[in-house]
This record gives sequence, C-alpha cells and structure tokens, in this order.
Amino acid sequence: MIITQNKCLLEYNTFRLNVFSSEFAEYETVDELREVLRSSHSKKWYLLSGGSNTLFSSDYDGLILHPISKNISVEREDSAFAWVRADAGVNWDNFVDFTINNNFYGSENLSIIPGLVGASPVQNIGAYGVEAKDIIDSVEVYVLDTDEVVTMSAEECHFGYRDSIFKHELSGQVIVLNVLYRLSKSFKPILKYGNLSSELGEEGSFSAKELRDKIIEIRNSKLPDYTKIGNGGSFFKNPIVSVEIAEKLKETYPDITTYADGKGVKIPAGWLIDKAGWKGYRDGDAGVYEHQALVLVNHGEAKPKDIIMLANSIIGDVKEKFGILISPEINIL
Ligand code: EPU
Repeated sequence: MIITQNKCLLEYNTFRLNVFSSEFAEYETVDELREVLRSSHSKKWYLLSGGSNTLFSSDYDGLILHPISKNISVEREDSAFAWVRADAGVNWDNFVDFTINNNFYGSENLSIIPGLVGASPVQNIGAYGVEAKDIIDSVEVYVLDTDEVVTMSAEECHFGYRDSIFKHELSGQVIVLNVLYRLSKSFKPILKYGNLSSELGEEGSFSAKELRDKIIEIRNSKLPDYTKIGNGGSFFKNPIVSVEIAEKLKETYPDITTYADGKGVKIPAGWLIDKAGWKGYRDGDAGVYEHQALVLVNHGEAKPKDIIMLANSIIGDVKEKFGILISPEINIL
C-alpha cells in the first residue's frame, strides 16, 4: 500500500476526463485504509469507487481512495435465501454473475450496471424496476471519527431513489467496506418495466440467465460503452412532479410515459431533454448521446467545464420549455 502523488485519473473515471489528484491510494483491508488515512498529507479525501458516477469538475486537491478488495462469499443459507457478502472493490457485474451462477436470484435486472459493489448502497443503484435496496441486508462500514467497523441494517441506510444516508448525514463520515446481500432461492422475475414481459414471454418460460442476457442486450442498445465513449450513465435523475403538473404535460404530449411515485409522478428526464431537441447534440467533444438523451458523453478530449456547461444549458432549457427543474444524478466533485 502506497500513496501516489499527482496521480492521473483518466483510467479511474468513466467520463474519461484527464484530471489529476494530488494523492491517490488503493487499499484492500480496513487496516490498509487506516494506514493510508494516517499517512496522507491531504486535508480532504474522496472515495472513488468504479468512477462511473463521478464527474470531476477540475483536478482534485486531496486524497483519492480506491478500494481493490475483491472477495465474494456465501455467508449462510436457509431453504429460501442465501446471504452473499461482497467486498467494496468487487466489480458489480461480477457479483451479479456470481449470484446467478449459484442460482441465487434478485440481481438479474441490475446486470452490467457499471461500477463497484461499494457504491451500490451509496447510490442505491437501480434499473428495470429493481433497486440495490431490494437485495441489501446490511452494510459494513468504517467510521472515521471512532475508528470502528460498524454494521448498518438496510433500514438504517435510509434508501431512496438513487439516494441513501451515505450521501447525506454520513457523507464523509464512513467508508463502505463490504455489503451483505440477501438473494432468493426461487426465481421470481420482475418484468414490470418497459417491454420486458412482451420480449421474454410468460413467467416460467425463461431462466434468470435469459433475463440477465435480455437486460444486457437492452442496456447495450441504449447506453454507450464507456471504454469506447466516455460517459457516466444517466446524468440526470428523473424528476418527480405533482399529479397536476404531470396531467397538464400529458394533455400537451400524450406520448409521454410517466410512472406513479409515492404522492407524485416520475417524468423521464431523457424524454424532456429529447423533446427539447438535445439528443445527439455535440459541442466540441461534449455531447448528448444519440440513442439516450439522459446520457452526456465525452467524445474524446472534452474538459470537465465543457460537460458542466452542457449540463447547465440543458437544465436551463428544460426549465424554460417545461417549467421542470432536473438535477444531476452524477456526483459532481
Ligand atoms: N426517452 C425518450 N428519449 C430519450 C430517452 C428516453 O423519449 O432520449 C423516454 C423513453 O422512451 C421512455 C422513458 O423516456 O419512455 C424512459 O426511458 P428509459 O426506459 O430508457 O429509462 P430512463 O428513465 O431514461 C432509468 C434509469 C437508468 C436505467 C433505466 C432502466 C434513472 C435516472 N435512470 O432511465 O439508469 O437503466 O431507467 O431502468 O433513473 C443510470 O442510473 O445510470 C441508469 C442508466
């Protein structure tokens, strides 16, 4: 374990921005993490997981911490469930693959979400009607103030839509070490989203692996591969508006797909951005993905400010055209 000075983060952020941090350290165990924090000269730190949900607005004057622990183990089982523990540094999709290969179910719809296990409770990652919170049993964290390792129940994590206590009260206070997931031993596919059910057919006629393959096919057709074109997945959250506002919008645009969400209605930000005319837009190397307007892309040499300026222009234009404020899902640093 060593701290590297003036580290290039190009390979560590999926936007492929050529930014530097003054210090950078990988760690495997909690003791290594403690040692890094003790020896660092920086006044601030940031936990960079898969770098798929972080946009650096400039070089980072501080310590970047990067977990590389990769254990996955079945901790216990009963007749209905299996509890699988995965380290923060495990590639998310390796975890999904491991569970399906072992006939443990619940993660299929979350296939090929980029990033690492450690980010799954922080961001409460989600796709196709499933969120990480649906399978998280508990989260083991390192508490900086007390130097302790603590287990937090799923309830204590205060999960919300792409949200958790780790982005609020506990931001900068704890570091996720590993996550315990509870997977089902019987396969109950969740097909409520989009045209999954019409594409796959009746429940019982396909396997979890086939569902996973379908999700991979859909994602690959809509979302850019960051190894070819830099991006951070959905750049914006889908805004939740009042029923009245949603109804007005539906009157003007009958083609819009909306989703009930608690007392409000979730409007697809991708639809708003697309309708406002931004899909496929490009200014220099910053742009809006041609197949999914929710995704901002770096065509090669974009600078952080180019992406941020583009995001701000989109936010302003959507507000002007629809009266709806959209906000980033991406963590801007
Ligand atoms: N739409 C458009 N134009 C576009 C994009 C979308 O009209 O350019 C419309 C679609 O036709 C559809 C609706 O908007 O009616 C929703 O689009 P889609 O089903 O593609 O999903 P999304 O709301 O854009 C969300 C998540 C994705 C996740 C998908 C599938 C958020 C912010 N994004 O996208 O998550 O994969 O649903 O569940 O909730 C991510 O978080 O990085 C991510 C990719």
